[in-house]
Amino acid sequence: MSKFKELEEKLTSIVKDAGYDVEVALCQSNRPDLGEYQVNDAMKLAKEYHKSPVVIANEILEKMKEHDIFTNLNIAGAGFINISLSDKFLIDYINEIKNDITKNVDKQQSKKIMIDYGGANVAKALHVGHLRSPNIGEALKRLANLLGHETIGDVHLGDSGLQAGIVVQEMKERFPDLPCFKEDYDGSDFELPITEEDLKEIYPTGSRKTKEDETLLENARQITFQIQKNHLGYSKLWDKVSALSIKGIKKTYDKLNTSFELWEGERDSFKYIPEMMEYLNSKGLTYISEGATVMDVKEETDDKEIPPIILQKSDGAYLYATTDLATIYSRIKRFNPDEIWYTTDLRQELHFEQVFRAATKSKISENVKLGFFGFGTMNGPDGKPFKTRSGGVMSLDELIEIIKDECYKRINDNIVEKENKEKLSEEIAIAALKYADLLPYRATDYIFDPAKFSDLDGKTGPYLLYSTIRIKSLLKKAEMEGIKYENYTKLKGKTERDVIITLLNMPSVITRAYESKSLNEVAEYIYKLTSIYNKFYSENKIIIEEDNELRESWLVLSKTIYDTNMLLLDLMGIKCPEKM
Ligand code: ARG
Repeated sequence: MSKFKELEEKLTSIVKDAGYDVEVALCQSNRPDLGEYQVNDAMKLAKEYHKSPVVIANEILEKMKEHDIFTNLNIAGAGFINISLSDKFLIDYINEIKNDITKNVDKQQSKKIMIDYGGANVAKALHVGHLRSPNIGEALKRLANLLGHETIGDVHLGDSGLQAGIVVQEMKERFPDLPCFKEDYDGSDFELPITEEDLKEIYPTGSRKTKEDETLLENARQITFQIQKNHLGYSKLWDKVSALSIKGIKKTYDKLNTSFELWEGERDSFKYIPEMMEYLNSKGLTYISEGATVMDVKEETDDKEIPPIILQKSDGAYLYATTDLATIYSRIKRFNPDEIWYTTDLRQELHFEQVFRAATKSKISENVKLGFFGFGTMNGPDGKPFKTRSGGVMSLDELIEIIKDECYKRINDNIVEKENKEKLSEEIAIAALKYADLLPYRATDYIFDPAKFSDLDGKTGPYLLYSTIRIKSLLKKAEMEGIKYENYTKLKGKTERDVIITLLNMPSVITRAYESKSLNEVAEYIYKLTSIYNKFYSENKIIIEEDNELRESWLVLSKTIYDTNMLLLDLMGIKCPEKM
């Protein structure tokens, strides 16, 4: 249990001692001149116990005085108890967490959680709209792990849509002699005559052609359908194209420090569809409407129109909802998770609402909690989803390059050798981009501003990296000078107290982030912690401090902040370079 939680429990028992029953929630004081924390429960208790809040506050205060962990106890206003923590309490706290910063987190009862994020579409370039899912999904996965949960991340590739037919059609036109196009193709392997580079151009070209020619479009649809039905030649080709495309997709996710335990896609759900359809039919949940197989998911309490979910079109083709429902079916059957989470653009909310309802109504997801955690869009300065200068869709790689150039300009040539500057600017760029992406509340839109994101001063990734590296250099310097530091024994000054109090609040920040499935508070928190520590750093000359005990304590505190920063950066999927 974290020290903060321990403190709250202690207060709960003190209040109980005074004769009142309430679970105390400790709030940081908005009047730091009066105390570091506030206990506001006397107000609530007054109503319950029909007594004046000041009287109750005084009774509680008297009990608090019996404990040496509090100082400066006083009552303000109508019965707010202000408390500050004793030096001893804060000193003990640092010593308790200094060697294992994960003690400063409240672990939870472990659950098995599958997280569906990433969502790249095979054979198409990842575009700006694909930035947030890996960032948020990866961070949520790390957050769940930190709190003690078991997680399985699944990229859930988009690999059964029309792009399959378009690409295969285009390949057929360019390479009609490939064995997979022969009447008597036997499924044997062959070499794919294209590179990753070629693939980047094949889909856009094919897509343009189908837009211009109705028969090509119809043909691409047919091929897509054939692939769904496992047409030997087309499926083989599409498998090979997918494998090539996935190589590129992996590289981009690697850049973003995002990884997946499962590299499955929509197509992996196909083998479960017949079984699932039979199950739904047997429960009498599906019916035919205009030739399509559909299922009602509306509920009496709905205040908006929830259309039926379409499972199979009249021509036999399956849709996005079908593969998503079958994926839930398969995940539960194979992995038996407690929860399944999805992070996609909020514009897919209705789709997930329908799929979740279908899963619940049919009892496919019995005892499994399904959660949709949608995000807002990253917009251009015009407030619309970010585009290239010419108004086209910008690829994710291009977007990363823009930030990288911005960071490159800012790297001081004296610090880094020329040959490492490329790599360093990419590391800083990723930090800039990811931090900016996690800083707003998940569901809020925000504006892409490369200069602002890359700034070394301000609420940015680079500022955090720079500050963290500076602590590391300090610790290195101490080591080089043979200064040993093991224990935290002496606390001096207001800023130092502020650093520790801020640290003390970390577990509740982490818990709230988990509850809201948004990292925004963590992002704000690491900035706050870093800024306060930096103030402390500039107020004290740590290495040359003459009081040995103080110097040792300050180094221990610095190391604790360093470890905390590294933990929180890692939580956000941000790597910290050696120097910058
Ligand atoms: N491929 C989809 C897209 O690009 C996202 C997939 C999200 N996950 C899911 N299970 N549907 O929009």
